[in-house]
Amino acid sequence: MTDTFQTVTVDLGARTYPIHVGPAARNMLPDCLANAGDISDVVIIADQTVANLHLERVQAVLEQPARVLTFPPGEASKSLTRAETLFNELADARADRKACIVALGGGVAGDLAGFVAASWLRGIRFIQMPTTILAAVDASVGGKTGVNLATGKNLVGAFHQPIAVLVDLELIATLPEETFRAGLAESVKHAAIRDPDLLTWHEQHLSAILKHDPTALTELLARNCAIKAAVVAADEREAGLRAILNYGHTLGHAFEHLYNYQLAHGECVGLGMIGENTIAVARGELDLAVAHRIRDLLAALRLPVALPEPLEPAAVWSTCQLDKKNRAGKVNFVWIRALGEPARVDNVTAAEVADAVATLQAG
Ligand code: GLY
Repeated sequence: MTDTFQTVTVDLGARTYPIHVGPAARNMLPDCLANAGDISDVVIIADQTVANLHLERVQAVLEQPARVLTFPPGEASKSLTRAETLFNELADARADRKACIVALGGGVAGDLAGFVAASWLRGIRFIQMPTTILAAVDASVGGKTGVNLATGKNLVGAFHQPIAVLVDLELIATLPEETFRAGLAESVKHAAIRDPDLLTWHEQHLSAILKHDPTALTELLARNCAIKAAVVAADEREAGLRAILNYGHTLGHAFEHLYNYQLAHGECVGLGMIGENTIAVARGELDLAVAHRIRDLLAALRLPVALPEPLEPAAVWSTCQLDKKNRAGKVNFVWIRALGEPARVDNVTAAEVADAVATLQAG
């Protein structure tokens, strides 16, 4: 693979940072650390599986080996208990305010290590090195960090921007095929809410995407990061615009919860977009042809377009009512009224959700 990469900037004034995307983007790690200036110690935080797969290659680009803290793989590690273990390990290592954390892994590593970076000594610098498509196009960009409570996901956390994001395709290359494809749903979401040309691009480059062609993936991931970067730069703390990233997520989160997190987040978001499109079409707000185009693209990317197991519509509705995006007792949805035209809607009814579930059940 070549050493070429694309760079996208997240423009946040004094906290502006680059996202480098390419086959060996890890080679930019020493430059990112040098540009940060005055770093005392580099601490890589990764789950044990990712550490076994990738640590050697990441350490190889550093002049001095980094300290490594690992944790058990899986969503259960996104907890206050695990964060406390990492804090104690940082204390044992005498990590000071000039230490820099490298969050190496998928969304769990990014959210957990980012939360630890946001909290340790009231905040130290960190770099995101996502190793999944989902983390590369979404979670690693934008500074949302946090852990889960028994009562819900991401309930404790902080906005804490990284100083750089390195999306290294050679690290993503080891992803299981299903995990790779699940992340593509967020890419379809970005295209639908912000960049109709990117939707066409997906349709034109299906085979290259599915073959993990490095040139196509560099383009795809850089374009996604540019969309996320622009949204975050305009609304870092989700006072308004950033909520458009929740397209497909109200139904998607309900599906994820009701399937006990056994169906991947991206797969649930894909199903959520199809379901929410059904409601928008029934209301006459969205052209049926656009809804079909999105469903067909998800199918072509080999993502599910029908519910794998039947769900009770009432259970979907009551789960939507628990969504943390809700305000003043209203269930909040984000869908599209056309490609590139997201809309926030808070008057969806139980009957509309039941119809969407019935359509998704039928496939
Ligand atoms: N994943 C949505 C956001 O970062 O705002």
